[in-house]
Amino acid sequence: MRTAILASGRGSNLQALIDAHQSGALPIEIVAVGSDQLRAGALKRAEESGIPTRVFQTNHYRNRRGQEEDILSWLKENQVELLLLAGYMKVLGPQFMRQVHIPILNIHPSLLPAFPGLHAQRQALEYGVKVSGCTVHFVDEGLDSGPIILQEAVPVLPEDTEESISHRILAVEHRLYTEAVRLLALGKVERTGRQVKILQ
Ligand code: GRF
Repeated sequence: MRTAILASGRGSNLQALIDAHQSGALPIEIVAVGSDQLRAGALKRAEESGIPTRVFQTNHYRNRRGQEEDILSWLKENQVELLLLAGYMKVLGPQFMRQVHIPILNIHPSLLPAFPGLHAQRQALEYGVKVSGCTVHFVDEGLDSGPIILQEAVPVLPEDTEESISHRILAVEHRLYTEAVRLLALGKVERTGRQVKILQ
């Protein structure tokens, strides 16, 4: 599956996907990495692995539509069959979602539908939950609201800080995202409306 990845930040999930692919554990081809942030660590990681990168810098566009048009052309140019969001900090708009006909996946650092949006780990701590975790889901027009593919729980400990719980969840994210993409690429993810079945 020709795969593109969009990331805004340090890119540790991107790195986990690249590593899994390089070790032969992920039957996809990562053909392009894009970012809305010129200085994203993710771009550097992609370059170090020889993956072509593209920047869609937000302040170069008059509006979101222009930026999304460029992303759409980039997906077409690269004949992308699967788009992965890995810490991409922008919500893709309804027009984009209507025009793109490939699966889009995202990883979120909470057990959705709890704590969507920014600072999910901080939200979980402030709420006082004893268990949080991460979720890999299909992207729809909403905010972290698409059908859930995989989830894994992570305990919240009494002494946790935002940093320590984020760190514990991140280690699981790297494994879970890779596993979800692997299952999808192997044709083992069956989606019917909101229900996602993992085929054996
Ligand atoms: C991760 O916690 C991911 O769940 C969230 O953004 C963060 C990205 O981290 N969507 P990284 O850039 O992959 O290291």
